[in-house]
This record gives sequence, C-alpha cells and structure tokens, in this order.
Amino acid sequence: MSTKPRILTGDTPTGQLHLGHWVGSLENRVKLQDEYECFFLIANMHAFTTRADKPDEIRRSTLDIVKDWIACGMDPEKSTFVLQTEIPGIAELTWYLAMLLPFNRVMRNPTLKTELEDKGLGDSYSFGFPMYSVGQCADILIFRPELVPVGEDQLAHIEPCREVARRFNQLYCGVNPHTEDDDYVKEGGLFPIPEGKVGRVARLVGTDGKLKMSKSLNNAIFLTDTFKQIKKKMGGLYTGRTAMDEPGDINNALFEYVRAFIADDERIKELEEAYSQGDNIGDGHIKVEIAEHIDKLLEPMRERRVPFEGDEGDKKVLEILREHTRQANNAAEETLYLAKQAMKLDFGKRTLMFE
Ligand code: TRP
Repeated sequence: MSTKPRILTGDTPTGQLHLGHWVGSLENRVKLQDEYECFFLIANMHAFTTRADKPDEIRRSTLDIVKDWIACGMDPEKSTFVLQTEIPGIAELTWYLAMLLPFNRVMRNPTLKTELEDKGLGDSYSFGFPMYSVGQCADILIFRPELVPVGEDQLAHIEPCREVARRFNQLYCGVNPHTEDDDYVKEGGLFPIPEGKVGRVARLVGTDGKLKMSKSLNNAIFLTDTFKQIKKKMGGLYTGRTAMDEPGDINNALFEYVRAFIADDERIKELEEAYSQGDNIGDGHIKVEIAEHIDKLLEPMRERRVPFEGDEGDKKVLEILREHTRQANNAAEETLYLAKQAMKLDFGKRTLMFE
C-alpha cells in the first residue's frame, strides 16, 4: 500500500485531447505523478449521458484517450488508469451520495447549465445527464483523494463533491459540522475533503483567437498534430493588429500563446517589448516561433505514441486496462466497504472477480 497522498482526475472520452487540456490539467498530472499516488479516470459511462446512441464511437474514444494519456507522459507504470464502467463501486456509491445532495443543488451547477446550452440539449436531456454530476462526486470520493487537478470548467463539479463529503462524514462518521476541511479524516471521517487544482493556463484561447479552445469549435491544436498542421493553425490566429510598425496589444491571443508555450522568460520579455512598441516585428514571425515551440513540446508525445498505433496498440491498451482495473477495484472496494459499514450496511463480505 502506498503512503503517498492521492490524486484522482480524469476525462470524458469525447475525441482527441488538445493543448487546452495540456495546459489546463494534463501537464499537472504528469508533474505530480511521483509525489502522489495517482488514479486517472476514463469517464466512459459519462460519455453515454449525451451519446447513448453511439457505443462504437465511445469505445473508440475510450481506447484513444488512453493513447493520448500515455503519449503526453501519464505513465501506466506509475499511475492507475481507471476504466469507469469496470468499477461497479462507483455506480453504487453514486446512489448513496445522490441521497445526500438536494435535487435543486445538482440542477444549479453552472457547468451542467453551460453544457446543456453548448450542446443544444434544451430540456430534452436524459435523466442520466444531471446524474453524471453526482456520479462525478463518486468517481472522486471512492478513491479518497486529496487533490483533483482539473480544467477551470470542472471546478463547479468539485464543489458539490466537497459538500457531499462533509455531509457523509457528519451523518455517518459522527464528525462535528464545525470541523475544518483539512481535519475531517483526523476527526474520524471516511472522506478527505478534496481540493481542485487548475493548471497554469486556466482557459486557453483557441486558434480563432476568440473562444476557448475546444474540439467542437474547430479551433484546437491536437496533441497529434504535425508541425505543418500546427503552423497552419497558428497562421490563422486572429490578433487584431493591422501593421507591423503599429504598437501591438500584448494581451491579445497571440501573446497568450507566447506566454503559454515559449518556455524562456527572457525571450517572452523581449517579444513583449518589441511588440508593444511596434518595433517592426510581424505577427507571422511570432506565430512561426510559437509553432516551433509547440512542435518541440509535441515531438516526444508523437514518439511515445508510436508503439500504441493500430490494432496492436489497441491490444496493448486493453492489457493495461485489464491490469489496472484490478488495482482500481481494490482501492474502490475498500472505500465502498468502509462507506457501507458507516451506513450500517455491512451485511456480509463481498468479493469482486474480474477476468
Ligand atoms: N467531467 C469530466 C470531463 O468532462 C470528466 C470526469 C468525470 C472527471 N469524473 C471526474 C474529472 C472526476 C475529474 C474528476 O472532463
């Protein structure tokens, strides 16, 4: 058993991961892998909340996201990949937590509302759709993590998770409601009150220069893009500037990219100075420089992906998931056992077997 503090985070498999995911959350995951015992969740059950009619597509994205993860440096030798649909304890805990969250509280979640708008779901969404936000609390709590590294949009899901963890600890573990968040476990609670952690760029602008980077908005640079693709996408970035000798605005989209992807602080300062003075430095030149830096970042990712290409790659992914499902269920079943014990539901011992 590891004594390191735990992390849980994850993604819904919706397609390819992009640079927005990298700066918002993936980079943190890679960095924190040694310090923490990490569980990375593939939320494939959640994919069904809006795409129940597309099982083939969801299966494909489920395997592909693992390839993206490995490519970006999330290491299956160090961390546990959790395939949500193979961890029955998550669905079970979801039910118990659903009883501790007021219905109106769930429906008030701003991230759910935005998602309904963005996806044009109106009021015709499934019952399972808002249920996923309760499920997300269970995803997290069943691994009893202290930290949840996520993109900014996910913070609205962490809050109800913290609320329901406090409530469970108070109701079933007898923890005093005035306890400080950090002290819940010390005071006998089962669940630590987990903290969200957003990456160094909370919200990366897309290559349209206007909206948040997103696959569905067609403004994303994917982790799989080649130098040529990156250069082309960067080339189309809207900066709002009309002439090279005109002072440029260093708060524009171009400079968000400069600061996000040029690792050298001196060079950033130099560019900012030249640009703000209209010092004959063209947008095009800077765009190429950024594209080179992004390419350097993605190069090792492309290399790590090679052994996982094609059908053979799919097989390797499935092998990893099989092995990791065992580890993940061990951790999840332990929490579920303790949770049910706290709820006076310990009627017997159960074992789960996966082949
Ligand atoms: N909702 C998250 C997303 O769409 C994915 C997710 C599911 C998740 N369960 C989680 C993220 C638990 C962090 C923690 O990206």
